[in-house]
Amino acid sequence: MVPTATSVLLEVQGLCYSYGGLKAADQVSFHVDRGEIFGLLGPNGAGKTTTICCVAGVKRPQEGTLRFAGADFTPSRCAEQRRRLGVVPQELALYDGLTARENLQFFAAVAGLRGAAARAAVERALELAGLVERAGDRVSTYSGGMKRRLNLVIGCLHDPELIILDEPTVGVDPQSRNHVFDALEALSGEGRTLLYTTHYMEEAERLCDRVAIMDCGRVIAAGPPPRLAEEAGIPGENLEQVFLKLTGKRLRDT
Ligand SMILES: Nc1ncnc2c1ncn2[C@@H]1O[C@H](COP(=O)(O)OP(=O)(O)OP(=O)(O)O)[C@@H](O)[C@H]1O
Ligand SMILES: [Mg+2]
Repeated sequence: MVPTATSVLLEVQGLCYSYGGLKAADQVSFHVDRGEIFGLLGPNGAGKTTTICCVAGVKRPQEGTLRFAGADFTPSRCAEQRRRLGVVPQELALYDGLTARENLQFFAAVAGLRGAAARAAVERALELAGLVERAGDRVSTYSGGMKRRLNLVIGCLHDPELIILDEPTVGVDPQSRNHVFDALEALSGEGRTLLYTTHYMEEAERLCDRVAIMDCGRVIAAGPPPRLAEEAGIPGENLEQVFLKLTGKRLRDT
């Protein structure tokens, strides 16, 4: 389906990125609509992180184009464009010796927020992360799930138009994972647009409006999960079965 100008926030077209001779992203194309949760799925090494690093401006694509809100987008060269994005990295990036509030104040300042705007953003982030009551405790005393939630809201402090999250639930126990889901759903409920990677297919099925499944650097299917199952000739089946049908490979559960 051809995306319409009003609904599309991000458009990725023919993106390529190689490490030496290895094509980590090979002609990757997809688009993200405003207000949706879009999942970039695939097993380890599929090229998810490489792709979102290109979208976030951390890497410069060797081929392909990006468009954002209908205009050409080259975030690797333009800090102003990068500010339109919120990036939540795969690795936790927190100061363990500081409290959650101090971490948020620090990252709010880094994001250029000052005064009342910074204070409001910090309090909103604490609420979103469900950390109001522990806001004055050092991060070193937090559980893994609490750290994940804090990591997540740090990327959203400056109210970006697109929030990019890389594997936000890796290494999180099931209960904390539910809290991360709640935080993602709350962000989405506020009308924000989320682009998020995972290798947990069932998680994407629960959270995402649309997904793109990657394997070996390529997008092998894209659309709403139920439609992908129909297109693969296995209506009603889950994304794991779709992946198996399309690639002949089982996902490694790592
Ligand atoms: N800096 C690098 N130098 C060389 N090869 C790399 C580098 N980063 C990634 N790769 C390779 O590129 C391919 C895609 O990696 P990438 O990290 O994008 O995949 P991924 O889908 O994010 O995987 P994971 O689920 O493990 O995070 C893999 O084969 C990986 O080994
Ligand atoms: Mg990755």
